[in-house]
Order: sequence, then C-alpha cells, then structure tokens
Amino acid sequence: MEKIIVLNHKMNMRYSEIKDYIKILKKIDLDPIVFPTSIYAKDFIDNKIKTGIQNIYYKNEGPYTGEISGSQARSLGIDYALIGHHERRELFKESNEEINKKIKAALRDNLKVILCVGEKKADDYKKVLKKQIEEGLKDINDEIIIAYEPAWSIGTNEIPCKEEVKNVINYIKSLVNYDIIVLYGGSVDSTVIKDLKEVNEVSGFLIGGNSTNISELIRIKEVVK
Ligand code: PGA
Repeated sequence: MEKIIVLNHKMNMRYSEIKDYIKILKKIDLDPIVFPTSIYAKDFIDNKIKTGIQNIYYKNEGPYTGEISGSQARSLGIDYALIGHHERRELFKESNEEINKKIKAALRDNLKVILCVGEKKADDYKKVLKKQIEEGLKDINDEIIIAYEPAWSIGTNEIPCKEEVKNVINYIKSLVNYDIIVLYGGSVDSTVIKDLKEVNEVSGFLIGGNSTNISELIRIKEVVK
C-alpha cells in the first residue's frame, strides 16, 4: 500500500515562499497532507492540497487571544489536526489531559486527528506510550491516526532501527482496539523512507525538518512508490 506522507512545516517559511512551494509540490505529485503555519493554510486549501492544523485550542470560541479552534479550522476547509506534538508537550507543557480535550474537540468539529506520541531517550517506552495513549484517548471511540515520534529522534538524525520501529508500532497497535494507522516520524528523509518503507506496520511518515526542502521532497517521491 502507498505510504501516507505528512509534512509538518512547524514555524517555518515566509509567505513570499509559499506560492512557489505549492507550485512545485503539485508538480512533484507527492499528494501529502501538509501542516503549514496556520496563517498560510488557505493557500494550500485553495490549491486542493490536503491541509492540516498543527494545534488547536479545545474551546469552540470566545476570549482566548491567539488561539484557533477546531471549528474555525474546519470552517476554512482544514481536514486534519495534529495533536500532542512533542514540541507542544515539551515547550508548551501540554498534558495528556489537555491533549485528550483537544482530540475530543477536533473530532467534534469533524477534523481527522493525528496524535503524536513518543518517548524520551531515558524513558521506559512502553510505560510512556501506554500513558500517552490511554490518557490521550480516554473516552474516545472514534478512530484516529497515531504518529510515533521518539523525542530523541526529532531533528537529531538519530533513527531507530527497523526492528525497533516494528516492535514499538506493534506495541502501540496492541493498546488500541481497532487496526489503527501508525506513522513514523523523527529525522525522516528519503534514505529513512527507503529503509523503513519495507516495514508493513509503518503506514506512512511524518516529516518535519525536510518538509520544506524541495529537493528532498523530490527524492522522497522517487523512493516512496
Ligand atoms: P524532524 O521532525 O523530521 O525534523 O525530525 C519531525 C517532527 O517534529 O514532526
């Protein structure tokens, strides 16, 4: 099966770069789900690119300066919400409880959810992932997508081996009572995809640093087939 490609721009790119980026992305024919910086989302939607939001607030509307709700994202034509990214957990101190509220809000607003989970180097991965998944998905029956991103692999060029990825994803699947789609993220480039695409348990890839690198995206298109 063709792997899902998710591009997380984080807080990168200037608006002057977006038009050319979109033009080339369409030409490459990679068909990714793009999570641009929110203020650029409309350009992607207008170009019929699957578009997501990198974070939402769990309230629907009101006096929450600087926040964006799931229903606002949906009203623009956004289809996906990325929830619980490592950077949100680490830098903005998002708890599993808050993440659970955000997932519920996103699902209520008809967004498809990609929940990010991942352990730090010194952690017992089973313990951490179990807690992130059980608390994050508490009282939720709708199906979501999980992105497994070991914190120690994000932006570091340190990649777990095939066997490790396979074992961890099977462990994640054992915690959920449906056949959940699991993506791998953490220092993904075309070489990593070439290696990990043979692992059936990996349904796709979440790409951060390389998501704005057009020449790497062209290579990714070549290996992902
Ligand atoms: P990276 O980021 O590809 O730069 O490691 C992945 C992510 O943060 O989603």
